[in-house]
Amino acid sequence: MSNMETTSVLQCRSLIKEFSEGPEKLTVLNGVELDVKPSERVAIVGSSGSGKTTLLQLLAGLDKPTQGEVLVCNHALSELSETRQGELRNRHLGFVYQFHHLLPEFTALENVAMPLLLRREVSVKEARLRAEAMLEQVGLKPRMSHKPSELSGGERQRVAIARALVGEPDLVLMDEPTGNLDPNTAARIHDLMKALSEQLTTSFIVVTHDMAFASQMDRALRLEDGLLVPA
Ligand SMILES: Nc1ncnc2c1ncn2[C@@H]1O[C@H](COP(=O)(O)OP(=O)(O)OP(=O)(O)O)[C@@H](O)[C@H]1O
Ligand SMILES: [Mg+2]
Repeated sequence: MSNMETTSVLQCRSLIKEFSEGPEKLTVLNGVELDVKPSERVAIVGSSGSGKTTLLQLLAGLDKPTQGEVLVCNHALSELSETRQGELRNRHLGFVYQFHHLLPEFTALENVAMPLLLRREVSVKEARLRAEAMLEQVGLKPRMSHKPSELSGGERQRVAIARALVGEPDLVLMDEPTGNLDPNTAARIHDLMKALSEQLTTSFIVVTHDMAFASQMDRALRLEDGLLVPA
């Protein structure tokens, strides 16, 4: 990416998301604005049901807004076909779901290698080596041959984090990544994020209930009444 100083990794403008419930309309997001620069680490807090997961899904193009626009690395998602959106996601974004969504029939190592294999740019051997190195970073190398059902909740969460980071994306969206982690392991994940943002200019948007974790980010925002406000 050129023009590091001026380019945004992610922008959203006047983002509105409504869910219709019979005759009723539930407005979850009501004009959200956000601009994230390279290397920036942004925390999003907010009460349960305030729309945090909904927002992350829209930012990743996993769901469509009712109104408004999301730009990932200056590409307006609404102007791209589903296929191009998928390519853009694979190349530029990493996503850690609130309930991790690992593939149950594959080992931790295979789960982490998957985004690299989907790109078809590196050999299977290279993908496995990079996945192994990333699993080591999150402290899971000894468990890498196990399937998700054989891992603890926090271990699964760390596999999902390794999978999101392995492709060296420009932006990582994380939905409660440290919810199942003890303070020491959470601190380790935070150190890894900080190192990646400094070394590779990776940006992070992290939804969390952990105020200590949020306060270590560059910015903390609160989702409240459908809007993002300073936390
Ligand atoms: N597909 C859907 N259809 C209808 N309503 C939905 C849908 N998805 C989410 N909602 C509603 O939108 C609101 C926001 O949900 P969301 O999952 O974004 O909250 P959240 O901030 O992530 O909460 P939590 O902290 O509990 O994970 C909730 O009231 C939820 O019930
Ligand atoms: Mg949520």
